[in-house]
Amino acid sequence: MSVSLLEWYDTHAREMPWRTSPAARKEGKQPDPYAVWMSEIMLQQTTVATVKDYFRRFIARWPTVRDLACAQDADVMAEWAGLGYYARARNLLKCARSVVAEHDGKFPADHAALLKLPGIGPYTAAAVSSIAFDLPHAVLDGNVERVMARIFDLHTPLPTAKPELMAHAIRLTPDRRPGDYAQAVMDLGATICTPKSPACGICPWREKCAARVAGTAAELPKKLPKKAKPIRHGTVYLGQRGDGAWLLETRPDKGLLGGMLGWPGSEWVDTTLPHPPSTPPAQGDWYAVAGDVRHTFTHFHLVLQVKVAQLPVDAKASRGTFIPKDSFAPSNLPTVMRKAFDLLMQDATPHGATHASLI
Ligand code: ADE
Repeated sequence: MSVSLLEWYDTHAREMPWRTSPAARKEGKQPDPYAVWMSEIMLQQTTVATVKDYFRRFIARWPTVRDLACAQDADVMAEWAGLGYYARARNLLKCARSVVAEHDGKFPADHAALLKLPGIGPYTAAAVSSIAFDLPHAVLDGNVERVMARIFDLHTPLPTAKPELMAHAIRLTPDRRPGDYAQAVMDLGATICTPKSPACGICPWREKCAARVAGTAAELPKKLPKKAKPIRHGTVYLGQRGDGAWLLETRPDKGLLGGMLGWPGSEWVDTTLPHPPSTPPAQGDWYAVAGDVRHTFTHFHLVLQVKVAQLPVDAKASRGTFIPKDSFAPSNLPTVMRKAFDLLMQDATPHGATHASLI
């Protein structure tokens, strides 16, 4: 099976900034394990298209794992802003520091040793082992699950089917070119064996695909229905001092958006009340901006009320710190916090106009 897929990959591999092409590999070029690891962390729950720019920025700023290990936490979190799942960024730093402290700055070419590093679970350990070190470990992401379910015409719904799909993925993984093979299955899933209208006619595995024969490819994999997400509500406070500085706080490491910069605000609570009462972080003439911010996290939808105030230059805040206007970049905020800022900037009220003019 792997031979026909590898032949297809030799001519159809997608170009990616972290990828060593099959031609370069054949000429003996080894992938950079640091680049492979970083890309695999970024690609979890995130599309290739989104990851490309983040990856390029990270590698330009921190070209080696030693550079990253020396980085300031706040700089890494700011560069990660917008990618989501921020525990990944905190673990990225922890992992870089472990690789430097415990492995002399070299990622171990060993699945079990990789698994012991912060933020590296079974998926990432398998991906780095195979892609960076050409070890025969099976990688099972969403694309590979779909390809396996179709090749074997497996109708067990996800996530129940995972162990069975993994067993198939392991069985198909070859000893020859396992790194290229792993990426080939992912590319097949992303470009031909797509969720809605698979291009079975041009698939290198069309002769072997049980779902194509049965005519069931487009309905696989089956999935158990997802639980409805509850709606949570909260308030954020956007306070700006007369000198233009914004009141922001670094969120605690544990919990959602942990370690990220954000606007001080209330707890986010499950409630039918639209705006549960909360206390502003500084005394001021707070007013609510028209509209609200809506953002969806993995387990809930969030609706945020945005309150804004212009604060005196000598304002005292009960939480957070004032960030000077020149050091403040909305792009360093996680998406939900940036949405709050964007809402304020669009606000057409006279107060909003005043704020927009201060920026
Ligand atoms: N998705 C996750 N890792 C990938 C990789 N190495 N190539 C293509 N798609 C991926």
